[in-house]
Amino acid sequence: QEQTFVMVKPDGVQRGLIGEIISRFEERGLKLVGAKFMQIDRELAEEHYGEHEDKPFFDDLVDFITAGPVMAMVWEGQDAVRQVRSMMGETDPAESAPGTIRGDLGLDLGRNVIHGSDHEDPGANEREIDLFFDDDELTEWERVDETWLYE
Ligand code: GTP
Ligand code: MG
Repeated sequence: QEQTFVMVKPDGVQRGLIGEIISRFEERGLKLVGAKFMQIDRELAEEHYGEHEDKPFFDDLVDFITAGPVMAMVWEGQDAVRQVRSMMGETDPAESAPGTIRGDLGLDLGRNVIHGSDHEDPGANEREIDLFFDDDELTEWERVDETWLYE
């Protein structure tokens, strides 16, 4: 089973959306294996968003992601990286379909509520999980409904 890194961004935390977002993943059948409520410092933000270093929006992005606490999580399940991205919607909430997290809960590109590991960047999930979590902060367990979730 695959693991993916998910983070409720500072806007989602301030807007009281942590529970709503966790509920969606739980109900889908994904399994929470790690969670950390934390504030990201600039160094971690710059490393996490290193791929966007040269983009014009990079400084705003780092300011935003460090502006308040985030809920960092690891979710596990079949095809978890792609399924989480599909539940998130498009990068821009304005382009995201209703029913997706960004399409239901956001309006603006620079305030898009949630991060999930990129499905088009193989290894991004493991890299991000390692960046945010020590091994002993992840908990292996079995959901009681697993035999009813998977054939
Ligand atoms: P993340 O899950 O946050 O990585 O979003 P993403 O993978 O859907 O998008 P991407 O990695 O391309 O961009 C990272 C973040 O930068 C986005 O979530 C946006 O918040 C922000 N961003 C991307 N493009 C723009 C842009 O053109 N302008 C601004 N202001 N922000 C942008
Ligand atoms: Mg991304």
